[in-house]
Amino acid sequence: MHPSSMLAGGGVLAMTAGLAWAAAPSPAASPIYGVTIPKGYRDWTLVAPAQEAAPLDELRAVVGNRKALNAYRAGTRPFPDGTVLVKLAWKHAPSPDFAPASIPGAATTVQVMVKDSRRYAATGGWGFGRFIDGKPADLAQHETCFACHAARVKDRDYVFTRYAP
Ligand code: HEC
Repeated sequence: MHPSSMLAGGGVLAMTAGLAWAAAPSPAASPIYGVTIPKGYRDWTLVAPAQEAAPLDELRAVVGNRKALNAYRAGTRPFPDGTVLVKLAWKHAPSPDFAPASIPGAATTVQVMVKDSRRYAATGGWGFGRFIDGKPADLAQHETCFACHAARVKDRDYVFTRYAP
């Protein structure tokens, strides 16, 4: 099932059941998936850093909640429901204090993957959200997430980042 049909299905459910909770999605939530920025993620544990070459030219850090870290350390796959991974990203800037050093410049995106094997059964159990200045990116961007993760790392439960010891 294509992810956008999940949204349509949810709409039908809301109409037939007439439930308040299924009303219009929050403007803070990602299209298709309804994922929001998790509270407190900035205090979560580092899984690994990453660097992306030009044109994006970014420094990144992937962090995870307790469930994510437990699964990483125990090698549990698929990740259990309730796992949340967040990728922070910044422009790559030279240090003004010491030329050979690179430091984070302006923040660019915060990206989120939430494991809920029933809700997101059509996309490997993962819901996706990309946020720019705290606001969700558009539908077109959210249509790309699962396809790229599925094409390259399906055998690792759709997760690229490995735990950096
Ligand atoms: C063209 C391929 C591609 C697309 C499209 C893509 N990603 Fe990723 N994603 C990656 C790669 C590669 C990584 C590994 C970390 C890095 O290099 O930044 C990653 C890492 C992540 C992570 C950290 C967990 C992991 O898998 O390592 C999250 C969260 C994430 N992406 C969310 C998203 C969201 C949300 C979208 C859609 C809005 C998206 N991604 C679209 C390639 C992609």
